[in-house]
Amino acid sequence: MSGFAYSNLFARNLPAPAARFGGYPKYNFIGGHNDPTLIPIEGLIAAATSALKKEGSKLAMYTAAQGSQGHLGLREFVKSKAKIRGIDCSTDDILITAGSGQAIDLINAVLLEPGDTVILEEFSYGGAISKLKREGQKIVAAPLDEEGIRIDALANILKDLKGKGIAPKYIYTIPTIQNPTGSIMPLDRRQQLLKVATEYGVPIFEDECYADLIWGGTVAPPAIYSMDRDHVVHIGSFSKTLAPALRLGYCIADWKLMSQMIGCRSDSGSGVLEQMVVAEYFSQHFGDHVDELSETLKGKLDTMVEALEREFGTAVEPWTPKGGIFLWMKLPDEVDIMKLVQPAAAAGIALNPGPEWACEGADSKSRLRLCFALTSKEEIREGVAELARVCHEQTGIPVRSGNVTR
Ligand SMILES: Cc1ncc(COP(=O)(O)O)c(C=O)c1O
Repeated sequence: MSGFAYSNLFARNLPAPAARFGGYPKYNFIGGHNDPTLIPIEGLIAAATSALKKEGSKLAMYTAAQGSQGHLGLREFVKSKAKIRGIDCSTDDILITAGSGQAIDLINAVLLEPGDTVILEEFSYGGAISKLKREGQKIVAAPLDEEGIRIDALANILKDLKGKGIAPKYIYTIPTIQNPTGSIMPLDRRQQLLKVATEYGVPIFEDECYADLIWGGTVAPPAIYSMDRDHVVHIGSFSKTLAPALRLGYCIADWKLMSQMIGCRSDSGSGVLEQMVVAEYFSQHFGDHVDELSETLKGKLDTMVEALEREFGTAVEPWTPKGGIFLWMKLPDEVDIMKLVQPAAAAGIALNPGPEWACEGADSKSRLRLCFALTSKEEIREGVAELARVCHEQTGIPVRSGNVTR
């Protein structure tokens, strides 16, 4: 046999086929994985037992007879969690999705056609960028500084597009713990962003995937959605706050948009058992859990920064994040990070190369993103040392590691 006999019947314009999963490398610094030691196993067992005793029989019905927006208990929890972000909404404004990735897909399905233009932060979530490129949308990159989108630059982009008769479909922003930079947009910048976007009649698509994981007593300004429900759509996730394998996220939006999103959905709703368990667990333990998780993540970030400084010295410029699970950094211009991916993989290291997290790849040739959540502190130290060794072997950089010339 030579495999499926009818590949001549495959639809045209399919995305590239998936590679078969080959397991994870030892030093896995990619993706948005979480800390395995902080999955609250006992708490989830107790929550599952309690939820199943209370509501298990409802699983006999699609959506557990709670309709297309998701489990009411989980929507109640999202409503209370949204309050922390300044959002005053009702359970009717919330749609539970299969991860916030599905919320992105549904919003895109409702708003976008091939050839449409969208504005993204110059460095942004790779999954969002790749989906847009695949679907044939034009991405315009808005420059970032350490406080998020630069409003002067955004205003110029909007003016320029308007001059060309182009109406962008949305401005996608990750204002609270930006991915990949880890910055938090201050309040006045959020207000300016909203002002300029509404002036030009462009909706804001706000992604708060990492907003629960802020450390050092920093309090983020309210979500942009809280300032204007008519011009903003808001999404969040349980992946980083609890566990990505659960596949639970949510969208908070006006019914006009949400009803169309539900119409585009074809999966008969997200798994209700997960929703019941998370609702039960987080209604009692949310604050304790995110405090412990954030503190642990901060400790791992410090370990990674120390290791990078020791191994790469002044050759690395990290953007210190204010929360989350990623460290975004730049190596000297001579380093082409795409050329390091394979040699690093051969040494058991997985990293996210900057060009995959940038709207315009060339701007980030020497940048990379490392996730510090999954690996232990020891693996972080070893993995960063290995990365410096591979990088030196391939590029001659870093010249010194741990005060020793290589
Ligand atoms: C900014 C951002 N939004 C959305 C997602 C999608 O995550 P999930 O579908 O697991 O909620 C990710 C994943 O890493 C992300 O970084």
